[in-house]
Amino acid sequence: MDKLVIEGGVRLKGEVIISGSKNAVLPILAATLMTDEPCVIKGVPNLRDTATMLKILRSLGKSADFDKGTVTVNSTGVKNFIADYKLVSTMRASFCVLGPLLGKFKKAKVSLPGGCAIGLRPVDLHIKGIKALGADIAIESGYVVAQARNLKGCHVYMGGEYGSSVLATDNLMMAAVLAKGKTIIEAAACEPEVVDLAEFLIKMGAKIKGYGTPNIEIEGVKYLGGATHHIIPDRIEAGTFMLASLITNGDIIIKNVLHQHLGALIDKLEESGAFVQKGLNSIRVGAKRKLKPVNTTTLAYPGFPTDMQAQIMSLMAVTPGISVITEKIYPDRFMHIAELNRMGTHIQKEGPHAIVEGVKSLSGAPVMASDLRASACLVLAGLVAKGKTSISRIYHLERGYENLEYKLSKLGAKVWREKE
Ligand code: UD1
Repeated sequence: MDKLVIEGGVRLKGEVIISGSKNAVLPILAATLMTDEPCVIKGVPNLRDTATMLKILRSLGKSADFDKGTVTVNSTGVKNFIADYKLVSTMRASFCVLGPLLGKFKKAKVSLPGGCAIGLRPVDLHIKGIKALGADIAIESGYVVAQARNLKGCHVYMGGEYGSSVLATDNLMMAAVLAKGKTIIEAAACEPEVVDLAEFLIKMGAKIKGYGTPNIEIEGVKYLGGATHHIIPDRIEAGTFMLASLITNGDIIIKNVLHQHLGALIDKLEESGAFVQKGLNSIRVGAKRKLKPVNTTTLAYPGFPTDMQAQIMSLMAVTPGISVITEKIYPDRFMHIAELNRMGTHIQKEGPHAIVEGVKSLSGAPVMASDLRASACLVLAGLVAKGKTSISRIYHLERGYENLEYKLSKLGAKVWREKE
């Protein structure tokens, strides 16, 4: 297994091009299960998670070729509706094959994804939505077994204890496009990745209105065809590079980014004193003066993304003064605190809050990644720390950041891989 080694202290400068969105491409690939016609998806990031989803599609009777950022999906004629534990357990997003399989075959058997390092992560909302369409659901030997003679449009409220759910909205939307009649999803997730999925489904022939708002209206159709689609840029990768610029006191122009998707982060960084210049498809970020601490609370979109919580914690950890980071989506998503503190940060967890006392400098250390975004916050800390930081378990990073070492190196960072 490889580890990532960073020699900190370089101010990052230059341009970086953001890849296609991981969280948009995974459900969109799942949606290709609903047609036997070819689909072409462009701007696909070459990630471990993408590879997992392609394996799942192949296991379900598709051929899927990935060449230079373009995935072409075709049918092999084999019909399978069982998504295996071995594949689903490695990536939670695999659970979003449930809606498409049920929509297309009126039956599906999908392994329960289980918990992960960021908390319990239940699937009750997914099941609530699918049941509302008239499917019978049973849990058998760790699998969700769903079947329905006919799916019927419904009116369902999808808000949960922690707000709306992105993948549950995706799952229900996908099953509902092939249901009979009208479905209204109340308290739907509004994330840009849900919008991207809806736009792909519409290209396939679906009738969907209101996506991007909490009220989605779907008029069921009988048939979906093939489609070609270009994935939106990854807002979380873009946000991570914005923070890489600020934490190293650098100046980076980030290209292939939609600043409309990053409103909450941009607002927070400007409040902190950062210089953020928005272009048509680019953002320039730098620190013109000393940053000040800001409090942050994660919320569903358009609020501050939980997927940026760990990274902003690294920035606040080296911004003198006190800040409080509150996690409202995954109250246990704080595994990175212990690792950051090994590098000299002063961060204390109090329930769903992290109290961060900014320090003047960090020192490089061996640290361990616990999940995808926690890995990113350790990379950020490593970029500013004195000496060498080596990050183990970087397969987490490979799940969500395409060519990270290459992109960081081009900006001047001293970063390389070593065998453990
Ligand atoms: C997606 C993203 C993930 C991001 C998360 C929150 C993908 C592939 N992943 O994950 O990167 O961190 O949104 O923005 O798009 N919940 C329930 N019951 C359910 C489903 C969810 O209580 O049935 C809770 C979750 O535990 C969490 C909250 O709802 O507290 C939001 O989770 P959700 O939006 O479902 O996350 P994912 O869609 O799995």
